[in-house]
Amino acid sequence: MVEAKSNDLMERLVALCKRRGFIFQSSEIYGGINGFWDYGPLGAELKRNIKESWWQTMTRWRDDVVGLEATIIMHPKIWEASGHATTFADPMTDCLLTKKRFRADQIEPQSGTVYHFDGARDLAKWTSYIGNYPDSMREAVTEIVKEYSTVMSRTDADLMKDSAKIEARFQKEYQQAGNYNLAALNAVYEEFIKKGCDDPYSVLIATGKHPDYARKIARQFYQQRGLANPQLLGERAEKVENSTRYNPENGSLLTEPRQFNLMFKTWVGPVESAENLAWLRPETAQAIFAQFKNVLEVSRQKIPFGICQIGKAFRNEINPRNFTFRSREFEQMELEFFIRPDEAVEAICGRVAKPAGPGHPGAPQPDWGWQIWHQYWVEERLRFYENIGLPRASLVEYWQKPEELAHYARATVDILYKFPFSKRDANGELAGEELEGIAARSDFDLSQHQRFSGKAMGVYDEELKAAWPKLAEAKKAELSNRYFEARLKYLAKMGEPAPNAERLARAEAANLAKGNYVPHVIEPSAGVDRLALALLSNAYCEDQAPDEKGNLESRVVMRFHPRIAPLKVAVFPLLKNKPALVSKALEVRDLLRPHMAVFYDEAGAIGRRYRRQDEAGTPFGVTIDFETLGEQGAELKDTVTLRDRDTMKQQRVKINDLLPLLSEKIR
Ligand code: GAP
Repeated sequence: MVEAKSNDLMERLVALCKRRGFIFQSSEIYGGINGFWDYGPLGAELKRNIKESWWQTMTRWRDDVVGLEATIIMHPKIWEASGHATTFADPMTDCLLTKKRFRADQIEPQSGTVYHFDGARDLAKWTSYIGNYPDSMREAVTEIVKEYSTVMSRTDADLMKDSAKIEARFQKEYQQAGNYNLAALNAVYEEFIKKGCDDPYSVLIATGKHPDYARKIARQFYQQRGLANPQLLGERAEKVENSTRYNPENGSLLTEPRQFNLMFKTWVGPVESAENLAWLRPETAQAIFAQFKNVLEVSRQKIPFGICQIGKAFRNEINPRNFTFRSREFEQMELEFFIRPDEAVEAICGRVAKPAGPGHPGAPQPDWGWQIWHQYWVEERLRFYENIGLPRASLVEYWQKPEELAHYARATVDILYKFPFSKRDANGELAGEELEGIAARSDFDLSQHQRFSGKAMGVYDEELKAAWPKLAEAKKAELSNRYFEARLKYLAKMGEPAPNAERLARAEAANLAKGNYVPHVIEPSAGVDRLALALLSNAYCEDQAPDEKGNLESRVVMRFHPRIAPLKVAVFPLLKNKPALVSKALEVRDLLRPHMAVFYDEAGAIGRRYRRQDEAGTPFGVTIDFETLGEQGAELKDTVTLRDRDTMKQQRVKINDLLPLLSEKIR
């Protein structure tokens, strides 16, 4: 992988987002706050459309998914059960020179020569001391100081030995002068030796670069430790390969990586004590698991079914970056889709269907096992992205390798979008960055909440209960045993003592035969802000358009899919000083407004108004002109010009036809 060479497009996109009011830096008037972003008028509309599309697709248009809206702050035990309190951490490291913070696992490995230093001493003491000597002696004293300097670049032991010789020479040479002060010299020397810094430090430089660069960086490091004029000690060089221990920007040594929990802390109530500690949720998913039984009871759903939620999540990211891509406050759109364990599917259907090949497996079937459900949701999500205008070629389906999987996951597919800042592969192609993760999470989450809350999280499945007695004894034994092994593995992994784990797993296997089990989960989890950024990147386009006089000029046009565009249509009276045109335009605006986001604009030349809407990404423009008023013939009365943002083609449309025509296009 190599870094994307130019992020020119990203810079232009960020500038447009501010200029047109898609995205602003949070708290900008106070200098901003890193990792937090505000959405302006167009950005707010875009985000609403994203969430609306997701909600429609995931629940309103399905019979097997229902919605939830839970609180951001929940009982702290939730985060113990989910593992976030102990394991939701990233390795963090700081530059010893600039204090800049990095995620240790995101540092690109570097090779070159490392210059190590044992410490440094402060020459400034000497320099000021020379001033106390008479002119006749200053030169000679300077010579001696220089000799000290040479000695300083060696180790402490050498320094002590040689400094004795230098002092002896000093005494011999200046014993005639009478007005020198050897005792004072010694005192300064002692202080000089003591006032050093013995912290070891290293700098990595690329092969071929002059070692003076490493020395310069090292001197800056010791200056920060209070040495005004540091003389470096104990320099030595070492070749290194693929090290991640140095700041890629300046070569400085980094601190040892340490784990940093990403959850934001707060206190519930007035007392800041351990028992009042609470966390801002780092994902919306856990509320769904915690409310699973309540929702199951009230929604009259049966496994398989899902619960979805859209809401804020907070992560104290070590290194927020790439505009809104990695933020500290963001929104998630998550579905937890609960399915039968494969043993229950097999007991009911006599088989477990597995994926037959790549692509969408079609409408859900009762004999689907977890793998085919997982594939189904990956394909459903890809369809969703294509439906709101992200071309398939801009998306990558990335199967996490076994060593990348979370400990509870059986498989995870990340849907990547080829953001302009994505890394490039060896062929120079954008590799893509995560937009959404679709994880097969087994029965981990509900099992954890069952253990931590003491409340049963399993379901009773009538079909399983009815099917079990009809199974052959050998099949019963096989399925029971498989279920027992899986539960035992989970319990042992969670630290349950062996005899207890075995007893619990046996009881659960016995319960399976009675129709009870803890459901498994497939989780498609997407970020609203990442999707907004993907849609903005995908829409951004520069091309040429004719101005009023027909001369070509460059324009920025945001080619959002009409379904997702912040504004659907702009309505323009040709001239604002013709009351008949204005009142007709307002009539058209009011006709469309209950059905879609309409922008009314009467200010400026019509070409400029079009250009403003092109930048906002408004797919359609309606102009009310003199033909509309019937001034150019009765047959054109009550018709308007409908302009298409992308083709810039214009057609005459009857006002009465506008609403059905536009509704069809934005549906
Ligand atoms: N419940 C699973 C979960 O939270 P995740 O991969 O950590 O999984 C899911 O997050 C999605 O949330 C990501 O694919 C991404 O779209 C979004 N997301 C995660 N961290 C984010 C951040 N710091 N800034 C913006 N979006 C983020």
